[in-house]
Amino acid sequence: MGLFNLLSANRSENLFLPAHGRGNALPKKIKTLLKLRPGIWDLPELFEIGGPLISEGAIADSQKFSANELGVDRCWYGVNGATGLLQSSLLALARPGQAVLMPRNIHKSCIQACLFGGLIPLLFDVPYLTDRGHANVFDKKWLKRVFKKAKEFEEDIAAVVLVNPTYQGYSADMESLIGEIHSHSLPVLVDEAHGAYLISQIRPDLPKSAISFGADLVVHSLHKSAPGLVQSAVLLSQGDKVDPFKIERSIEFLQTSSPSSLLLASCESAIKELISSKGQKKLKSRIDEAELLRDFLINNEIPLLKNSDPLKIILHTSKYGLSGIEVDKKFIEKRIIGELAEPGTLTFCLGFSSHKRLGKRFVRIWNEILTSFGQQKSCFFKRPPFDIVSKPHKPCSFAWGSNFEKVNLQDAIGRISVEMVCPYPPGIPLLIPGEILDEARVDWLIEQKNFWPEQISDFVRVIS
Ligand SMILES: Cc1ncc(COP(=O)(O)O)c(C=O)c1O
Repeated sequence: MGLFNLLSANRSENLFLPAHGRGNALPKKIKTLLKLRPGIWDLPELFEIGGPLISEGAIADSQKFSANELGVDRCWYGVNGATGLLQSSLLALARPGQAVLMPRNIHKSCIQACLFGGLIPLLFDVPYLTDRGHANVFDKKWLKRVFKKAKEFEEDIAAVVLVNPTYQGYSADMESLIGEIHSHSLPVLVDEAHGAYLISQIRPDLPKSAISFGADLVVHSLHKSAPGLVQSAVLLSQGDKVDPFKIERSIEFLQTSSPSSLLLASCESAIKELISSKGQKKLKSRIDEAELLRDFLINNEIPLLKNSDPLKIILHTSKYGLSGIEVDKKFIEKRIIGELAEPGTLTFCLGFSSHKRLGKRFVRIWNEILTSFGQQKSCFFKRPPFDIVSKPHKPCSFAWGSNFEKVNLQDAIGRISVEMVCPYPPGIPLLIPGEILDEARVDWLIEQKNFWPEQISDFVRVIS
């Protein structure tokens, strides 16, 4: 089927992102706009419209309105996803040669920013859930240990990045983590790509956005965790630790010179949906529905894992010895399309649209899958062999630009990678340019290759 046919067909249960569910949950204003004469809305930065970096015009007014409503000093809409705004944030936070402390489960976009910005990624290990193969969140005690170790590298640390909630919806006590980072007089950037809707604060038992705990910069992917069109995102800033001039020049450096007015309108409407009482009412009913679905699935013995995001359902496939990647293929055959297939789990994103009749169908398909594979023993995953803090052996940009050769993974011991090894999704690098491949890393990568056969190659490119 060609692209156009694929884009117009909709015969599946969409449990993947974007969260608007093939348009079902798009805000009314965007739906109305899209129903007008096709293309009428496709405009450049005309005088009255402006753009994210232009101080006058409709977009400037809209950004001011959103910042005000969200209680932050500034906000910038983005048309290249959380990716573009995370990268701009990093360029604003650190100069070439400075280091940025970030967790091992960082999204690849931040490593790319280190590469082209000449920054040193000081990567710290995070707790690991061996029953499912996920990175977990950590607490202040863990972070204190990280700071202690990071000091030994004697690098000029400019900032810390946190990822919260994680792709699977685990959430940390952000108040204490942000407090700890600020006690070192460092700014913190929070990748809240999966947590935009937390700014609604619709229920006290849900995690709060890092903005409410004083994070200096927060990036939201508005298509992942709000009803925005793909590529819509927003960067929020507050406090005086990061100079807005540096943020703007960094956005300018990375942003297209023709930002789409449709995507910018989508940024505005996605944020309005999160803060308006009508939008919040809809979100609340989606969450209530998601919780009923979760209860139904658990009552029907579906192995679900706990997380802090009611709109994400994690099926624990490795509990029955099954790969989430294989189980995903079976669900796709039955026209249920999940979001994140991993070796031990399959995560479904309910998003902002309704899935009222999903429960029984889900139970039936899972039971068929169990019968077809035959129940096996639970499997467990080995912890990744990461030091508590590590720094690439060579600068990322140097390794990336070096002459290279392609070698078999098992022959790569002692060599330096020029590439990122990174299954997508989730887009979390297992190896970054400049890192040395010691025996433990090679063994672990070979093991990972067996778990992700279509995503990790037998070969790795190393400096020649
Ligand atoms: C944790 C995290 N941060 C950032 C991103 C990038 O988001 P976007 O697709 O909006 O660029 C992703 C995408 O998967 C992500 O999972």
